[in-house]
Amino acid sequence: MSQNIKSTTIRDNSTSSFTTKDNPIQNIKLVITKDNSNQNIKPIITKDNSITFFNEQYQETYHSVSGAVEEAQKKFSDACKIKEFTKLHDEINILDVCFGLGYNTAVAIDNVLAVNPDCKINIIGLENDINILNKLKELTPPIAHYDLIQKLVQSINHKKNEFTLHEKNVNLKIIIGDARETIKTLNRAEIITTITKLANQNNAKNIQFNFCFFDPFSPKTCHELWTKEFFQDIYAVMANNGILATYSCARIVRENMNAAGFIVKDGPIVGRRGPGTIGVK
Ligand SMILES: C[S@@+](CC[C@H](N)C(=O)[O-])C[C@H]1O[C@@H](n2cnc3c(N)ncnc32)[C@H](O)[C@@H]1O
Repeated sequence: MSQNIKSTTIRDNSTSSFTTKDNPIQNIKLVITKDNSNQNIKPIITKDNSITFFNEQYQETYHSVSGAVEEAQKKFSDACKIKEFTKLHDEINILDVCFGLGYNTAVAIDNVLAVNPDCKINIIGLENDINILNKLKELTPPIAHYDLIQKLVQSINHKKNEFTLHEKNVNLKIIIGDARETIKTLNRAEIITTITKLANQNNAKNIQFNFCFFDPFSPKTCHELWTKEFFQDIYAVMANNGILATYSCARIVRENMNAAGFIVKDGPIVGRRGPGTIGVK
């Protein structure tokens, strides 16, 4: 199923070459759509027909051009074995680092509810760019629960700089700001209380994520998020045996994950030669 942008997007049949977040030196030719509402973020159609964007500041796409929704499914949900986990558990806590268009979160919700419709789902997203959250309101990706993400981004609390949605057993929050700072707020009493309420846990200190989707722009253009220090902060809020999944297999990334305490393994190979990376706490 292909995806539409519900706005004044004009289809441009010319092709273009550009850099993708997971493969920096490709000369990929794809159809670029024109959208005049934001000059710095341009929509493009990936090979599974789902839409991603090209960010001119980073000179990179938000997803692999081999398939944006496919990437969310295979490199994040499948890599973490989300379905297998929720067959055995009635509650799941996910940290979505670099929320972007929310595909990783939305696909995970689909996967959980497909195998365990009563599972309590608690997801915290970290994102520093409100513009990209505004963009996702226009999208119609083939993800059943994407409407939850769209409702979530209607719910800004300006005072707290966050978005929150509670719907049935799904609890979602996006915290706006630099993820290197906002990750630290996950230890603050107020946030802990909020997550505790979300997760319905009694012990406020017992806030731990079962999974982390780690999806910044590439280590080359966004090196500040791929550091040992940031991985350490993530490690600190994860449950024992918790799993971090990311698309990169760069040596420096694996070394930093390892130095932060993760046991590093190959993730799946999707749409390119190298595997992703899995970090197990
Ligand atoms: C590759 S995209 C993520 C795509 C996203 N996971 C999805 O499923 O649509 C990277 C995201 O990281 C965000 N970002 C970049 N630097 C950041 C930072 N320091 N803190 C938080 N988010 C950041 C960008 O705004 C962008 O949305």
